[in-house]
Amino acid sequence: MFLRILLFLLVYLLHLSASAQDVHQRYPLIPWPDSLRPLQGSVRLERSAKFIVAHDSISQEAVVVNEYLLANYGFTFQTTVSKRAGDGNIFLTVDPAIPGHTGAYQLTVNNRGVIIKGNSLAGVFYGLQTFLQLLPPSKSAPLDVQAVEIFDSPRFVYRGMHLDVSRHFFPVAFVKRYIDHLVRYKMNYFHWHLTDDQGWRIEIKRYPELQRVSAWRNGTRIGHYSSVPEAYDTIRYGGYYTQDEVKEVVAYAARRHVTVLPEIEMPGHALAVLAAYPNLSCTGGPFTVGRTWGVFQDVFCPKEETFEFLENVLSEVCELFPGTYIHIGGDECPKDRWKVCTHCQSLIKKEGLKDEHELQSYFIRRIERFLNTRNKRMIGWDEILEGGLAPDATVMSWRGYQGGIDAAKMGHDVVMTPTSYCYFDYYQSRNPQEPLAIGGFLPLDKVYRFEPVPDALVGEEVQRILGVQANMWTEYVPDGKQVEHMVLPRMCALSEVAWSSSGKRNYDQFVERLGSHFKLLGFLGTNYSLAVFDVEAAVYPGTTKGIDIHLNSPYKYGSIRYTTNGSRPDGNSKIYSTPINADQSIVITSALFDGSERKGNVLQQLYKVNQATGKTITLTNKPHEEYCRGGGFTLINGVYGALPWNGADWLGFQGQDLEAVVDLGKPTTIIRAGIDVLNDEGSWIHYPKRMEVFLSDDGITFTSFGNVEGDKLDASKRYVIFPVDKVKARYVKFVAENAGIIPDGKPGAGNPSWLFVDELVVE
Ligand code: ACM
Ligand code: ZN
Repeated sequence: MFLRILLFLLVYLLHLSASAQDVHQRYPLIPWPDSLRPLQGSVRLERSAKFIVAHDSISQEAVVVNEYLLANYGFTFQTTVSKRAGDGNIFLTVDPAIPGHTGAYQLTVNNRGVIIKGNSLAGVFYGLQTFLQLLPPSKSAPLDVQAVEIFDSPRFVYRGMHLDVSRHFFPVAFVKRYIDHLVRYKMNYFHWHLTDDQGWRIEIKRYPELQRVSAWRNGTRIGHYSSVPEAYDTIRYGGYYTQDEVKEVVAYAARRHVTVLPEIEMPGHALAVLAAYPNLSCTGGPFTVGRTWGVFQDVFCPKEETFEFLENVLSEVCELFPGTYIHIGGDECPKDRWKVCTHCQSLIKKEGLKDEHELQSYFIRRIERFLNTRNKRMIGWDEILEGGLAPDATVMSWRGYQGGIDAAKMGHDVVMTPTSYCYFDYYQSRNPQEPLAIGGFLPLDKVYRFEPVPDALVGEEVQRILGVQANMWTEYVPDGKQVEHMVLPRMCALSEVAWSSSGKRNYDQFVERLGSHFKLLGFLGTNYSLAVFDVEAAVYPGTTKGIDIHLNSPYKYGSIRYTTNGSRPDGNSKIYSTPINADQSIVITSALFDGSERKGNVLQQLYKVNQATGKTITLTNKPHEEYCRGGGFTLINGVYGALPWNGADWLGFQGQDLEAVVDLGKPTTIIRAGIDVLNDEGSWIHYPKRMEVFLSDDGITFTSFGNVEGDKLDASKRYVIFPVDKVKARYVKFVAENAGIIPDGKPGAGNPSWLFVDELVVE
């Protein structure tokens, strides 16, 4: 009897877990709704089915969906107004009693048809978006929709995606396509980063030089910002959106319940303006529109003619964008010029300001007062906190959570967009074949794990977090195809952070649904990234000798195949089952397969084994928690960090030194030693001030055998070598002194430098 109950329980549990899986396969919705009840059966919608709208005002939602259907499926549904659904149709109605934020809806699909009730027109629209995700991603398949009952409401009111159109310019057609991607994933703010050092992209009628001069640059940095030697192309690059085009985009977005948030950068990131109007600077110029990336020292000078200019610009901007908010930038404004400008210094005195930070606050407050006269509210990057926050400002917290926490505690609204979870210009894959990116590492699962409300906020403060946004900076993103590669599917993960209640988030289930979305995105001709299928490698000290290389796929399905002769793996290559041991340098080329069909990218990695590789290491200082993957062993795992750095295989120390002792296990003959460090000033990563290597027989008494000063480092060399006459030692100590506080004029001035180290070498 007991056994029978046990067996019954087992079968029941298996059934439960199988059905949870089935639910996510049968209803592959992203973002996942608040509540979903599977129903038996499905409904087949004939091409003759209709949108029945309960009220004429709802028909505009049907029109937008018909545009999508026509473009992608080649047909539309007719729309009629009626209070009665009739069988086989899609009935749309508004019921303000439906609980939840604006955009909440109920969707019922049964064998009689489809019913969508929104708490508002936005709710109807989101119900329709959910419905569209239930359609087959195929032009020829019958329109069978699985029966279901869904109650859904967004977690956050602000669900944003940003696009930088200054560093690279994207035509209106792509901007609309980008908005389509937002809409599919129920995002509702499009942050249009319209101005920056490298180009002004919005027509301002009063200032034609913005179109003639500021919208164009004579050449662009080739390769990564930190690459040496610096190289530029000589192609005149640029463009701008006419006011008619801006209106077209705003209207396109509005019909899709997306608000466009325009950003006009000040007081920094203004070089393109100053190229046309050098009188608005502290020095008077002359200037040229930026050709490289990073932060420029020449910024707006807070003089009356600057405010007059900005107010005139903002007047036109306020007219073009009906949304409540105007974004005024505020980030990364070096104070070098202000410190030595007679006007700036006398203004500081006259206004009784403490320093240049308070001068920045003065600047921002004046702009806020102006925006308020136009019935707009101001939003800015978290630097607007420095020197005191403007009274009604909303803060976009990008340099981590702290700005957002501080602002929320002061009672200000906040949008969370910390670099570590929301910068879609970071690498999403460790695959060396990944297109050039700015650096950093933000894989899909990390986006998914983003929690926008930090524990530090309690009670009312929590309500200050309006929502989240991901930022798509485009220094290294030249066209729309690449934008899609960077944002898809990471935006899918973000959409679930933004929309779904946190208790409903489950990465494995998300990935299961993502498989269907790849089919949909493929059907829509989208250039999504395959990084989720990447093979990951981890290195451990060898159980017998050298190192053990473990291959792993975070994606649960399929098998890993690999080669060790440099060739690309195919359906006949060896299937990985146990760690690969190496005591000599080895190349492993691997990919994820479904049977004999390759699913993901091919990953090739060289493991370069030297006398330190796989041995024992101790670190005096802990690396920063964001850049400590693999711990100290990272420095002797045979893997050189990728360049540009992507967060993998680099240890990052913020404001701290590296001090590491490697125990070679026994007295060993040494002819040279080396340290590999990184210089990427745009990311606040600086070469160490000084490096030194010591030897010891007992691990207690060390003698130096070489050092090098930071200013002697040759950025073209992969690592710094300390040659010695043949010596024998068991312990090698490596020291790299952090460069300290970042000096004025460099990106991140005033903050502690990062020291990045990837490998220690003993030969
Ligand atoms: C920013 O990334 N400078 C806001
Ligand atoms: Zn000045």
